[in-house]
Amino acid sequence: MKQQPEDDLVASKSPAGIRAMFHAIAPTYDFLNRLLSLGIDQRWRRRLARLTIGADTRRVLDVCSGTGDLALALADRARSAGVAAAVFACDFTPSMMSRGRDKFAASPHAHSLPGTLVADTMRLPFPAGAFDAVTVAFGIRNVADYQTGLREMARVCRDGGRIVVLEFSRPRNRLFGAVYSFYFNRLLPRIGHAITGTRAYRYLPKSVARFPEGPEFAAAVAAATGGPVEIIPLTGGIATIYIGRKASG
Ligand SMILES: C[S@@+](CC[C@H](N)C(=O)[O-])C[C@H]1O[C@@H](n2cnc3c(N)ncnc32)[C@H](O)[C@@H]1O
Repeated sequence: MKQQPEDDLVASKSPAGIRAMFHAIAPTYDFLNRLLSLGIDQRWRRRLARLTIGADTRRVLDVCSGTGDLALALADRARSAGVAAAVFACDFTPSMMSRGRDKFAASPHAHSLPGTLVADTMRLPFPAGAFDAVTVAFGIRNVADYQTGLREMARVCRDGGRIVVLEFSRPRNRLFGAVYSFYFNRLLPRIGHAITGTRAYRYLPKSVARFPEGPEFAAAVAAATGGPVEIIPLTGGIATIYIGRKASG
């Protein structure tokens, strides 16, 4: 599959280009996540899982699920909370999703991870109101039309259910922001290129810089769900969790 220059891809988010990029980095995706975040990414997913799984959660859908780490964290949280929730996962890059499927099969939570599907977040193959919660981690930014993606997530969520998004954001503190910016914009793309031989880790900071965050992104979630949205900054604001409640009717 042909790689698109990252500036074009940030501007177009062309599905073929996004899929080709994730296909190219699928073999090293988990390793680089752990290395480049020093494992903090998994802490964020666990936090999202704690905020998502409630006593009445029976069916959760994780979209743009990639190699399935958030779906696994959700299943793990359900087990430790004593909740019988089934976690479904979908992604439109088959090589990412197949890695997730292998991880689910090997996990002690295999029974609560009944299904993975290759599917586009802008056209989810589920009926309206099928899930108690719909989640996405570091995925919605890559969807060609993120508002359509959010509307689809809200459509398949039941009234009163939750749409929960984890996405990168920019730190507020100026000193921390300057140090982080050097790392995220200069170092990370070089390390990513050295290991993957691709430009995916140049695309990452550029796509974050152009994506809405904070109240602006929360407004997009609210437009999709018709309900209130909570904003939870993580690790000095380098990532944020948005929790939207789907309004009735
Ligand atoms: C950065 S990865 C995130 C994977 C995973 N959620 C995680 O926490 O590691 C983004 C994923 O979004 C998927 N993706 C992007 N646009 C998509 C779309 N329109 N429909 C489904 N998946 C999409 C990509 O294939 C990729 O696996």
